[in-house]
Amino acid sequence: NSNKFLFFKGVPLLSHIHDVEHIQRMQDEFEFQDEDVIVMTYPKSGTHWMIHILSLIYSKGDPTWVKSVPYWERCPWIEIKTNMENVKNKANSHLFTSHLPAHLFPKSYFTSKAKILYVARNPKDILVSALHFRNHFPIFPSYSTFEHFFEDFLQGNVPFGSWFDHIKGWLPMRHSENFLLLTYEELHQNLKVTVEKVCQFLGKELSEEEINSVMENASFQVMKNHILENKELVPAEDMKSLKIVLMRKGICGDWKNHFTVTQMETFNKQYQEKMKGMDQNLFPWD
Ligand code: PPS
Repeated sequence: NSNKFLFFKGVPLLSHIHDVEHIQRMQDEFEFQDEDVIVMTYPKSGTHWMIHILSLIYSKGDPTWVKSVPYWERCPWIEIKTNMENVKNKANSHLFTSHLPAHLFPKSYFTSKAKILYVARNPKDILVSALHFRNHFPIFPSYSTFEHFFEDFLQGNVPFGSWFDHIKGWLPMRHSENFLLLTYEELHQNLKVTVEKVCQFLGKELSEEEINSVMENASFQVMKNHILENKELVPAEDMKSLKIVLMRKGICGDWKNHFTVTQMETFNKQYQEKMKGMDQNLFPWD
């Protein structure tokens, strides 16, 4: 599977959607503005959920914007050239998305007041979500066995590289004023508290009613129906796969339905080794 990758500074990217020159140019030349906000994730960590929440916070709970404008226009992916070209001349576009590891991210962020919302998720659930994504989305070659993907994931032989490297690269930023560390699990556990935390971080004051509307419109079922209803947002032939891959189950702990006991032990061992020295209380997952 690795021959589908485009390696850039040691990180496997996707040759059909990424362009090394563009990423290098973004890293060196893109100037963040202080009012910019970036949803930053390792793939399958809840990116679309956070994009939805962020968009709804900006529209004060009114779903019109999320219903009428595709997510890649509301929050373009920094690493995708066509996404960025789309917003080039829009002075008022301040929301972005990215999966880039810290060492490939536009340098201007680190000296700006632009804000990152980093969403982390249990890597075991990411692995399961990513495998389903791979196996149901036409642009990827699918994996014949769970075992093969399990190994590739642990070795970082997957798009955007190792989960461990991604999180370890970004985590030191969590003490900065312009970086908020969130987890997929806390969104699940208490969406309201998390939405309020995001509002506070962004300096947005929403009424009780507006917060309730953000929550309602960012629920799994509403988002799933919305994606299916909005045929104009994605080509019709992609609808079936998009439903399966993007809004699959939306739960915590699905890894328990897929991992064998041996795989769990192998994963835990690697986790302990690679995350050594990290505060183990940072994350709620098992
Ligand atoms: S991507 O392709 O990397 O941008 O995917 P990403 O959006 O990061 O992750 C997809 C997973 O997020 C789940 N999801 C949600 N869970 C709960 N509530 C809401 N509203 C929600 N929206 C998306 C989605 O179901 C994918 O997880 P899995 O485990 O595959 O279901």
